[in-house]
Amino acid sequence: MSTAPLASGSRSSSENLSPEEATVMGADQPQAETYAVEAWGDGFFAIGDRGTVQVRPDRDPSRQIDLHDLVNGLRERGYATPVLLHFGDLLSTVMSDLRRAFDEAITASEYQGGYAGVFPVKVNQQRGVVEDVSRLGAQLGFGLEAGSKPELLAVLALTVDQPDRLIVCNGFKEDRYIEFAMLAAKLGRAIVPVVENLDELHLVLEQAERFDVRPRIGVRVNLNTQGVGRWAGSSGIRAKFGLTLAEVLETVRLLRERGMLDCLQLLHCHMGSQMHDIRQVVGGVGELARIYSELRRLGAGVRYLDVGGGLGIDYDGSQTNFPFSRNYTLDEYAASVVHRVQSICDEAGVPHPTIVTESGRAMVAQQSVLVFDVLGANTFEPHTLPETVEGLVGPDREEPPRPLVDLYDAWTRLAPETLLECWHDAESARTEALNTFSLGYMTLEHRAEVEKIFWTLALRTRELAQGMDPMPEELAELDDLLCDVYFCNLSVFQSLPDCWAIDQVFPIMPIHRLDEAPTRRATLADLTCDSDGKIERFIDREDVKHWLPVHELRPDEPYLLGAFLVGAYQETLGDLHNLFGDTHAAHVRIDEEGRWWIEEIIEGDTVSEVLGYMQYDPAGLARRLRAECENSVKSGTMTVAESRGLLRAYESGLAGYTYLERGAGVAGEGR
Ligand SMILES: Cc1ncc(COP(=O)(O)O)c(C=O)c1O
Repeated sequence: MSTAPLASGSRSSSENLSPEEATVMGADQPQAETYAVEAWGDGFFAIGDRGTVQVRPDRDPSRQIDLHDLVNGLRERGYATPVLLHFGDLLSTVMSDLRRAFDEAITASEYQGGYAGVFPVKVNQQRGVVEDVSRLGAQLGFGLEAGSKPELLAVLALTVDQPDRLIVCNGFKEDRYIEFAMLAAKLGRAIVPVVENLDELHLVLEQAERFDVRPRIGVRVNLNTQGVGRWAGSSGIRAKFGLTLAEVLETVRLLRERGMLDCLQLLHCHMGSQMHDIRQVVGGVGELARIYSELRRLGAGVRYLDVGGGLGIDYDGSQTNFPFSRNYTLDEYAASVVHRVQSICDEAGVPHPTIVTESGRAMVAQQSVLVFDVLGANTFEPHTLPETVEGLVGPDREEPPRPLVDLYDAWTRLAPETLLECWHDAESARTEALNTFSLGYMTLEHRAEVEKIFWTLALRTRELAQGMDPMPEELAELDDLLCDVYFCNLSVFQSLPDCWAIDQVFPIMPIHRLDEAPTRRATLADLTCDSDGKIERFIDREDVKHWLPVHELRPDEPYLLGAFLVGAYQETLGDLHNLFGDTHAAHVRIDEEGRWWIEEIIEGDTVSEVLGYMQYDPAGLARRLRAECENSVKSGTMTVAESRGLLRAYESGLAGYTYLERGAGVAGEGR
């Protein structure tokens, strides 16, 4: 990589996308097509006349806000990027859509049971989000799902005075967890501990007797139907959770023995997250409904059929069964589930149960957007190369070694007709040159020449290959090899952990300058000193793309990128790699006139806080440094003023944001 001047006749250094490519990618303004906003945005995101991203909380263009404007507003208030934005009004639309889809499916097929959505708190445990879900859910008849004791304690407090809210308790349970569930039942709450193994059933029975409650009990079954995609292992015979059918029958026997068969009220399964193929959903729901009808035949009082989570998000907007898309719509999902349950119940002559979904991702993914700034770029630029091979003679007039001469020869022969051949020759010569250098037979100066020629040749090859149809695969790969690296003010591990852990793709795009054609391709690198701290997979309608179309950076002007649909799983799975902490999180409201206001800002972690998480005592650290400064003053290696300056900087560093705070302004200092 370099910043050397242009070789004559090559593309302008300010572009690594040709004008033709830019046009193919939708370079006509605005860039909706380039970034496929309409495909994945689901009507919530669009590009406005000023080339900035607009957020439409209810998909209505007359009630939209400007995302760039909002980020600038936060900056003015002292909250610099990176910042995570939560749009509660958008969440409200998504939750209402879910309710509407099931209500319509129920009405259309004259299904006799009801529907309740239950939000699994683990998908986004942030208080502000769970409070929003809980408040909106109260109006929509939705409940909450806890997957652990801490989650249950939060849920119990959030649903005070709402005894009818369905609370489903999943996850591993010891007696304490079950004790809380039984006490909540005593309070009159609609709480259902879901038994995942027979030990849990015994605990439920013990605690129910102890507190004299007649509990509602759920069972999670291990379906034979295997899920699909990344989380396929959540179901199927080797799944980690759930009762085998023999254990379900044992549960029925034990409950019957105690005269408690009516307590078995909920049948649950979870086939895995991000189900991208509707056929798997239908298969699993069918199996679950069959088990339900058999349980009814055996006299159990089951009235809730909980199909678990898994409703997918179309992250790339391709509407396919690609793992990060889904080949169905919300309406199709609801209609398929309702219809499948109904037909199996009708066949068996059993009542239609209330259908429960535990959709987490599909409820909260869209309401969060992460905005971060680009700090700088590494780019590949062509070099001016010597006119003849003699120009390669090194210091002391040392003859160029063979691989360097071969590489130069490939460069001079480079033409449309010899493209692939010259590229192969160049690759071989470069490999040989690297070996020659390692063995001590090439000088550093000659090695540097090798790099210059190779990358200039690669750029020129890529340029000449543009017109080829079909383009040889090896030349097509040059696009990935030659793109820029944009360094971003974020930690992938903290804010987008699934990019790193499971190669998840999220829609990422600039939130401004979208009235200009992007002229560069880039991968993104984060602030951590970890080679995995990068994003090299971007959405594409056909597969994944290994670069993102971006704009040339301008001096002294922030370039802001947004990662969209990041509201599910990212916040709590994120970690403190390199001690980059939580980003600021702003809960944004949008009024009827399309004006935004900040309901709440949760400040990101300070350096002191993240050090504290790692058991450091920030005050103690400052004390130690102060002692060293005093010694330096005493020995005369530092002045008092210098020592004071250093200690002040240290203390304000401890109180500061863990991310880079360029241009945060005075108000931003100390955060
Ligand atoms: C039991 C259970 N229910 C619901 C969910 C939420 O799934 P999703 O976010 O895919 O809807 C999960 C997630 O893994 C789960 O384990």
